[in-house]
Amino acid sequence: MRGEILRMLRRQPGGYVSGEEISRRLDVTRTAIWKHIRALKQDGYGIEAHSRLGYRLCGVPDLLLPDEIAAALTTRRLGRAVAYFRRVESTNNEAKKLAVAGCPEGQIVVAEEQSVGRGRLARGWFSPFAGGVWFTIVLRPPFSPQDAPKCTLLAAVAVCRAIRRATGVACGIKWPNDILYEGKKLVGILTEMSAEMDAINHIVIGIGVNVNIAAADFPPELRDLATSLSLAAGRPLPRLAIFAAVLEELERIYDLVLAAGFGPVLAEWRDMSVTLGRAVDVSGPGRQFSGTALDVDDDGALLVKTDAGVERVLAGDVSIRTPARRG
Ligand code: BTN
Repeated sequence: MRGEILRMLRRQPGGYVSGEEISRRLDVTRTAIWKHIRALKQDGYGIEAHSRLGYRLCGVPDLLLPDEIAAALTTRRLGRAVAYFRRVESTNNEAKKLAVAGCPEGQIVVAEEQSVGRGRLARGWFSPFAGGVWFTIVLRPPFSPQDAPKCTLLAAVAVCRAIRRATGVACGIKWPNDILYEGKKLVGILTEMSAEMDAINHIVIGIGVNVNIAAADFPPELRDLATSLSLAAGRPLPRLAIFAAVLEELERIYDLVLAAGFGPVLAEWRDMSVTLGRAVDVSGPGRQFSGTALDVDDDGALLVKTDAGVERVLAGDVSIRTPARRG
C-alpha cells in the first residue's frame, strides 16, 4: 500500500494528488491513507498535506528503504524480496536465517548500519549508518560446491562493473574479491555457503560498499587501508543508484554464468584485476610466501610464481607489494 501511494505521488512530480483520488484508486478510506502518509513521514519522506489539494512528495530520505529499492530496480529476480533493517548485527547472519527458512533466490537483506559487520578471515567490517551499501543476497545456484569460490569472483566483477558505470570511479579487483581504488579498499565481499557433498543448498554473498564516508570517519587503523567512493569522486554519491546498479550487474552476470559457464566472467575478472602481474605476499592457511601473481585458473585459484615453482592459492590473504606502474 505504501509503495502504491508513493508511486502515485511520484507520478505527479512537484504536484498534488488529492486524498480522494488516492483512496478511490486504492479502494481504502481516506483515514487509512492518512495513516500511511504519517508512517511515510516518520520514515523521513517529505510529504506536504494541503486541505484542498491533497498530498505532494517534496523529499525522499537518504535511506535504502524497500519502497525506494523497488522503485529504482530494473531486475527480474534479484532484489525483489527485501528484508530491511535500520541497524542489525550482520546482514549475512540474517540472510543465512532466511535462506534456511526457504526464502526465494535473490532475496536481499539490507541495513543502514551493522553493529557487528563481518569481514573475511574473521575480521570485522566498519559499517556506519547510511555511510555505505551493506547488504547480502541469497543465491541457490545449480553448481557443484567446488564452483562456489567462483561466485565470489562473479560478485567482484559485478560490483566493479556497477561502480565504474554508476560513478565513473576507476576501481579494480584484488584477488579474490576486494575492490580497490588507488590501493585502498572500497568494497569487501564475504561469501558463505551451505552445501551437501554434491549440491549447494544456498550461497549468501555479503557486499559492503563504502559510499559516503569521510576520511576522518574511518577508525584510525583503517585510514591507510580503506577509502570510499565519495573520497574517490570528490563528491557525495547516491547510495540507492549504486545499489541498484550492483543488483542489475549481479543479475546480468549470474544469468550469463547460468547460460554460458564461468569462462566469460573469469576473462572479465582478469581484465579488471589489479593483482595479476604484480609481486605479492601470500599468507595462510598454514603457509606464507612471496612471488608474482600470474593468473587465475579455471577454479578461480590464484597462480603465483615463486622460486620453487607455481603455487595455487584458493584461500588466504594476498597483499600487493609494489605500487602499480602508471601509463
Ligand atoms: C571483507 O573482509 O573484505 C569482506 C567484507 C564484507 C562486508 C559485508 S557488509 C554486508 C555483509 N554483512 C556482513 O557482516 N559482512 C558483509
